[in-house]
Amino acid sequence: MKPTVTIKDKEFELYIDATTIEAQIKSLAQKINKDYAGKKPLFVAVLNGSFMFVADLMKNITIDSEITFIKLSSYAGMQSSGKVSETIGLTHNIKDRHIIVIEDIVDTGNTLYQFMPGIQAQQPSSLALFVLLFKPTALKVPLQIDYTCFEIEDKFVIGYGMDYDELGRNLNAIYQLKNG
Ligand code: IMP
Ligand code: MG
Repeated sequence: MKPTVTIKDKEFELYIDATTIEAQIKSLAQKINKDYAGKKPLFVAVLNGSFMFVADLMKNITIDSEITFIKLSSYAGMQSSGKVSETIGLTHNIKDRHIIVIEDIVDTGNTLYQFMPGIQAQQPSSLALFVLLFKPTALKVPLQIDYTCFEIEDKFVIGYGMDYDELGRNLNAIYQLKNG
């Protein structure tokens, strides 16, 4: 793990290392294994940012479960546009299923606040939200988050699936914008 990385004009420093991420994901996966035993949950992972996180999470899920992927977009560069557009839709029938939405990060919360009611309208048996990162001080809407790996300060982060202008997703740890 490099202590700092430079992407385009920005410098980022190591913020949460790979071992810490792995341990926290393991511990929350165990909680899911308990909470959803016998319920065969359907994980709905939001691409692109959640791809690495959800892969590591699923390796630690030991109960019967399914996974599917959707794509939303609301972010360009380092500021949320506040608009949500679904580009790859949900094809599964989610009525009477236990749904766990997996997202990389909740910043203002706008993206999921607009997306979740559409899922709820399809009458799942239960609906939970599981995120890798949550910036409590950036939250602008009353979004309920059920499982959070890390609460972080309101600074831009990259790595472990998350990007700055599409770069940095491949980093195996989470890096924070320096002086940001
Ligand atoms: P929100 O709608 O403001 O909660 O932001 C939602 C989306 O913006 C997330 O799913 C991310 O894709 C992206 N995002 C928010 N904060 C960051 C960040 O610090 N780094 C990278 N992407 C972010
Ligand atoms: Mg995202």
